[in-house]
Amino acid sequence: MAVDTHVVPVIAIDGPSGSGKGTIARRVAGALGWHLLDSGALYRLVGLAAFKKAVALDSPSKLADLARALNVRFSADSSDAEEIWLDEQNVTAEIRNEEAGRRASVVAAFPEVRDALVGLQRSFQKAPGLVADGRDMGTVVFTDAPLKIFLTASPEERAQRRHKQLKGKGIDVSLPALSRDIKERDRRDSQREVAPLKPADDARLLDSSGKSIDEVTAIVLRWVKEVRF
Ligand code: C5P
Repeated sequence: MAVDTHVVPVIAIDGPSGSGKGTIARRVAGALGWHLLDSGALYRLVGLAAFKKAVALDSPSKLADLARALNVRFSADSSDAEEIWLDEQNVTAEIRNEEAGRRASVVAAFPEVRDALVGLQRSFQKAPGLVADGRDMGTVVFTDAPLKIFLTASPEERAQRRHKQLKGKGIDVSLPALSRDIKERDRRDSQREVAPLKPADDARLLDSSGKSIDEVTAIVLRWVKEVRF
């Protein structure tokens, strides 16, 4: 299904875990007053739903059924305190741990699951605009997005950021373990056959290593001004 992003503009922000895309997408959406799609949360929810319903992570057609039937509700757009409900249960904290991330990247490798989530992702494209973050926003889901950004940071910095973030939430994980986990997830996400993590041909590359959240947000907002939506 072709989507006319000229009617409702989309900013696609892709990149590896820990690159800061979730935070930047939220800031940019907040600054513009646009909607936000955290597509990674959808894969995390499919993984969590599978866990709760005892669906094996190696049965793509059952996982795709779960994805199609996903009963999800997000609270307010782009607020820092966003909450996520699955089957009317608040799963905000549960989908953020490392196990949920691992499960997400396993289910995300199945084309059946990815296809099942495309319609749901596109349904977030509502006026006045959408900021969508993930791995394949610019390459698959919103290919017509007038602004595509591929956000990166060094693996060391990404592991450190995740460590700090998790510590802030009272979750204690060792830095080396986190670093191994991030590299493993990067490998799985970039080497999978379907929608591998890679910049769209027309994406602008942005390396956030050594840059603050404010600095990166300012660069993106400058690009937003340059692009004619
Ligand atoms: O971004 P986040 O860490 O929440 O994503 C969790 C996992 O979901 C990623 O490691 C990736 O495997 C998968 N994902 C994806 N495509 C997206 C967003 C996330 O494959 N658009």
